[in-house]
Amino acid sequence: MLTAIQIKPDVYWVGALDWNARSFHGYKTEDGITYNAYLILDEKVTLIDTAKITFKDELVSRISTVIDPSKIDVLICNHVEMDHSGSTPVIKQLSPNVEIYASAPQGVKGLTAHYGDLGYHGVKTGDTLNIGKRTLAFVQTPMVHWPDNMVTYDAYDKILFSNDAFGQHYASSYRFDDENDLSTVMNQARKYYANIVQPYRAQAANAVKAVRGLGPDAIDMIAPAHGVIWRSHVEDILKAYEEEYTSGKLQDTAVVAYDSMWGSTDKLAHAIADGFIASGIKVQLMDLKANDNSDVMNAFLDAKYICLGSPTFNSQMLPTMAGFIAYMKGLSPKNQGRTGVAFGSYGWAPLAQKQIASEMESVGFDVPLTISANWIPSEEYLADVRTKIIDLVKENA
Ligand code: FEO
Repeated sequence: MLTAIQIKPDVYWVGALDWNARSFHGYKTEDGITYNAYLILDEKVTLIDTAKITFKDELVSRISTVIDPSKIDVLICNHVEMDHSGSTPVIKQLSPNVEIYASAPQGVKGLTAHYGDLGYHGVKTGDTLNIGKRTLAFVQTPMVHWPDNMVTYDAYDKILFSNDAFGQHYASSYRFDDENDLSTVMNQARKYYANIVQPYRAQAANAVKAVRGLGPDAIDMIAPAHGVIWRSHVEDILKAYEEEYTSGKLQDTAVVAYDSMWGSTDKLAHAIADGFIASGIKVQLMDLKANDNSDVMNAFLDAKYICLGSPTFNSQMLPTMAGFIAYMKGLSPKNQGRTGVAFGSYGWAPLAQKQIASEMESVGFDVPLTISANWIPSEEYLADVRTKIIDLVKENA
């Protein structure tokens, strides 16, 4: 039997560990996924979020080690996406009188569309629900990252149940930040933001402001719906959201992402990277054959220089680069003063590089440099590319 883990007196983690998940609709989850749900034993037994439907048995097993699931009085659905709400009908079946709360109107509409009318109560920012010793407060966080998102604050335990916000795709043996390697957890939090929340930067910044508005001593724990619970590093994750992820500030770093057919574009990529290194700029060179789009976006999040390369292939860029650009554009990395470089080789028509430059300009990058090398770049050509990058950095200094 899979068991619950107590995180505070009468508050338990009863979620599921998806150790072997390696893709979250295209986002590479190399460390797996967790679907966190939390059980509060009070006069009204309250479950916060559920789990993906394929993990319903794990959820119910963990709940059952604490209390008979038929005794759940309240279910709070902070978010309709099915990784969290998927087992809602299961809980309703086990506890037919359960009262289900979701944000109004989007949460209620979303749950109804997914599971039919199970009798939902809509709540808005400022609404509260007394469950005994505890009064839970709801704060809507629309578009972080769906219209229905909300968080639930438990002032008695000083826990913020934050759902997707502050989450990480990270399945591990331990539930708390300080029990895991912090650099791994922080990197997964950043990757999660870069690939899930980034399009809604302003809304995420407002959500962090709302959290700050609770007061300096209001939070002992941030309990997200994915990954570890923040208790020793609450300030670290809040600051990372404020100062790194949502600030829009760019670092003097570069990403060189590309694909190559016969090695010419690869040679250009290395010459470009070498130019950045010579300029003292930290660079990540990422062949799209070896790096997942989600890892490129993690590197990309606050990088000032974005260099995208492909040879011309059937009058187009390679499909790997086209796929990456579609993924990148969906994450709306707009208007942040980024500098783009389009590059690649060609045989008889330098088309792919123009297309790449145009795509970067369409999301607001300044693209002062396009490099198109005919067939195989010579050593002299590569030295010139390196110099052009050094000059570009000087111009941007
Ligand atoms: Fe983790 Fe938006 O669901």
